[in-house]
Amino acid sequence: MEHILTAIKEEKLNIPKHVAIIMDGNGRWAKKRNMPRKYGHIQGAKTVEQIIEDGYKMGIEYITVYAFSTENWKRSEDEVSALMKLLQNYLIDCIERSTKNNMQVRIIGDKSGLDSKIVAKIEELEKITQSASGLKFTIAINYGGRDEIRRAVKKIAKEVEAKHIEPEEITEDLINDYLDTAGLPDPDLLIRTSGEERLSNYLPWQLAYTEFYFTDVLWPDFTKEDLLTAIRYYNGRERRFGGV
Ligand code: FPP
Repeated sequence: MEHILTAIKEEKLNIPKHVAIIMDGNGRWAKKRNMPRKYGHIQGAKTVEQIIEDGYKMGIEYITVYAFSTENWKRSEDEVSALMKLLQNYLIDCIERSTKNNMQVRIIGDKSGLDSKIVAKIEELEKITQSASGLKFTIAINYGGRDEIRRAVKKIAKEVEAKHIEPEEITEDLINDYLDTAGLPDPDLLIRTSGEERLSNYLPWQLAYTEFYFTDVLWPDFTKEDLLTAIRYYNGRERRFGGV
């Protein structure tokens, strides 16, 4: 880790405050090893744990990962259940280690479509970590960006119907407050691994001004050195938010 921190200092790198990640390539990583796809996800989960630890040491304050999309239900039953089991075990581990690691965990996505056991773990974890002062770690589970916007619009429509909000009061800030990501700053940098260069319905509202970094590295192989490369790339870009 020392060499990374030295590089950040010497190159005066500006660290993105919020990094969003599409952890792609687990299946191909496993296939290359003649292993079942779920083995790739198990390795992928280990990589996330390492990257959030390293990222926080590098100065990143918020990390948001795409763990399961609304589309992922179409995968084989075996793969879906392996992913759900992995996520559930991760939530349980997080609860057990919450006092040690000081991380604030939040889950975004449509919880109504998840197993009640997972929802109970999510609620427990969010509650016990809500005032932690370390990394703000957000996991998207049963998440789809358009679905998130649809759910927000529905809630706002109900508020208008109940006359709690006037249509004129619907500003971008108000919409932000009704999204699953309410209270989180927009990501500064998006990383997608495995060579795909698509958004795949991930945070379409929140990524409007974000820098995108794509790499061919498969997610289970992604290291802190790759994260440093992404941060260097981010530093080569100037963000003007449409101004001059
Ligand atoms: C995409 O790779 C990855 C996923 C659909 C799942 C991501 C989940 C994890 C990394 C594990 C659990 C996460 C946490 C937070 C503990 P792919 O399967 O589409 O790979 P492929 O494109 O090579 O087929």
